[in-house]
Amino acid sequence: MMPWMRKITAFVFSAMLFFQGGGMLHVNMEKTVDGEAFPPGARWLDTDGNLIQAHGGQVQVMPVPDGNGGKKDCYVWIGENKTSGHLGNAVAVYTSEDLYHWTCHGDVLRPLSDVAQIDTDPYFAALYGELNAAERQHVRECIGTDMVIERPKMLYNAKNDNYVIWFHNDGPTEKNSYYYDIGMAGCAVSDSPFGPFRFVDRYRLSECPDGQIDCYPFSRGEARDMNLFLDEDGTGYIVYTSENNKTLYISRLNEDFTGLSGSEYGVDYIRIFPGAMREAPVLLRENGRYYLLSSSTTGWASNQARVWSSDAIFGKWRNDGNPCRGRGASVTFDTQSTTVFQAPNGSWIYGGDRWNAENLIDSRYVWLPVRFEDGRMSIEWRESWKWEN
Ligand code: GAL
Repeated sequence: MMPWMRKITAFVFSAMLFFQGGGMLHVNMEKTVDGEAFPPGARWLDTDGNLIQAHGGQVQVMPVPDGNGGKKDCYVWIGENKTSGHLGNAVAVYTSEDLYHWTCHGDVLRPLSDVAQIDTDPYFAALYGELNAAERQHVRECIGTDMVIERPKMLYNAKNDNYVIWFHNDGPTEKNSYYYDIGMAGCAVSDSPFGPFRFVDRYRLSECPDGQIDCYPFSRGEARDMNLFLDEDGTGYIVYTSENNKTLYISRLNEDFTGLSGSEYGVDYIRIFPGAMREAPVLLRENGRYYLLSSSTTGWASNQARVWSSDAIFGKWRNDGNPCRGRGASVTFDTQSTTVFQAPNGSWIYGGDRWNAENLIDSRYVWLPVRFEDGRMSIEWRESWKWEN
């Protein structure tokens, strides 16, 4: 099936689920997160009074510069700045101490509109001025303002004391004008979480091993919606949808977090439930058990979440079904998964995107409480709530 046919079929299926799930969930559209509570889907302004632009993002605690030459732990929210619309999204970073008030640190990875900018704009000259003409052209081809730069995530690399961003990097090919034909993962590095990040390159990732059924053998090693996970032992992982969005993969990163650790199946990577057609993955660890949350593949339209769990990353994963409970649970409360993290009191929070396909810059964030019981994860609907309670 062609990608656009798949999206339409999935959209119709999603719409059926949506209405079955109780109709419109666009509540709290006019409310603003006010520092007292999280009303799901409300407008959320940063400390400068601007709409937060950190879509398809990730929230986590990591060391950041403290302003006195040292570092302090802080919440960091990285995501897509949708000011440019669908394509050429810069990657933005915000920080917070209390999860309600977020300070914007601007665009930490910027796309180029023209290769000449490397000569004319000091920002790009400092990052890419050393490159030869072919390398400069390659940077422009990968992170051009007409390319897909989505779902950016960041890890702090303790070994090198630097920061590494991975993101979904896509665009059309000579064979196909569809904007998601390249199917690669981009990587960028910086000494500061506030950038500027230098684009390193983009890559195809792990491939279906011999002896297993590849759900899309025509285009091997694809990587689209993705996320990063830092395990307690300091090992980094990238989790992503591959095989034309039919199969999720988890691959271990190398010690610098800038590439994969190797290509041995079960040691360096694993495929999870081939053919399940999942994307928007989130990998987390709670009380020694790993959880892998994901959405179905219906573009900007919401659909039903699913979670798998396992005692080991490269172990046997169990399908735990839909973790959502309460109003709108059949369509993930009209959101798509992007991050799960712990509040200062140790409780867990789900962060999802409520996409507005007609006006992507006004897509909203929905944060809800997550519970774990007997090795099962659930996400609960709330009209408005505080993490302190
Ligand atoms: C979604 C994906 C988003 C974006 C969108 C474009 O499935 O999760 O990140 O790529 O499709 O239609």
